[in-house]
Amino acid sequence: MRYALHAAAVLVGGLSLSPLAFAAPDWTSVPATTIHVFHPGVTPWEWIESKGKHGGSRGLSRGESCAGCHVENGEINVDLERMAGELDPKGGPAVRAFPVQVQAAYDAGQLYVRMSFKAPAGGIDKSDKDNAVKATVLFPNAEVPMAEQVGCWATCHQDARTMPDGKDKTKYTSAGAYELMQWASSGKVADGSITDQRRMEGGQAGVKAEGAKQGDTWTVTFSRKLPASPTVHFGIAVHADHAAGRFHHVSFGHTIGLGAEGDVKAKKF
Ligand code: HEC
Repeated sequence: MRYALHAAAVLVGGLSLSPLAFAAPDWTSVPATTIHVFHPGVTPWEWIESKGKHGGSRGLSRGESCAGCHVENGEINVDLERMAGELDPKGGPAVRAFPVQVQAAYDAGQLYVRMSFKAPAGGIDKSDKDNAVKATVLFPNAEVPMAEQVGCWATCHQDARTMPDGKDKTKYTSAGAYELMQWASSGKVADGSITDQRRMEGGQAGVKAEGAKQGDTWTVTFSRKLPASPTVHFGIAVHADHAAGRFHHVSFGHTIGLGAEGDVKAKKF
């Protein structure tokens, strides 16, 4: 058993030896946090805030966070059948939720974020022909409504174009801004933002990203400019099995601590 564990550690180490476009830390010494992502169905901001529809709306206005109510001991406490039934007219993917290992590290100038996961097959929307997988991280600034509580949810609205009654909108936020970084398996890297609309370029974070599949595990490594605050709010999304638009698996809002408390503790190099 001891030998098997050792072998697994060496394998993970091997991944970090692949040539990278940026100087990444030695990930074998960085602890990983498991963050679960799930199929969010049709639960846009308007649903989240509706007192008649969402049991958490009052708690949110009192300052509680999504994760505070829906994450227990690292597991998500969400009725996943409801997400793929009552809460989604298109149904749901075969795998409603899966774990993502998240690691973070930083040096004098850069924050590095690494996501590792097995992307499940059995999606219900395969309209992104170019990309089997996309991995995305969003960072809300302090002006985003409930920025410290809601992860990516302030960008998600019922008039987004892939929603059932959607208009021609992309993701947007009513106030503030999100930084967006995305790696797509075609190799495309986005350094973007979400304000009154989503922009996949023109971001100010100097994002670089690389990813690869080894066995059945995808590993995506991002680097970006160091954020101003030692407590960094973020949410992640994975588009698995060629999914586009809202057909991603998403996390609630979490924090990376840079020498501060955080769900993910960034290691200093
Ligand atoms: C104060 C606690 C609380 C907070 C904060 C909260 N929720 Fe909930 N949420 C609930 C409860 C209770 C239910 C189930 C009862 C219901 O909605 O009828 C629920 C239901 C849900 C569901 C439907 C699945 C299910 O298990 O019924 C989703 C999706 C959801 N919440 C997402 C969120 C998101 C996203 C946030 C943050 C933007 C959030 N919640 C914040 C308490 C909370």
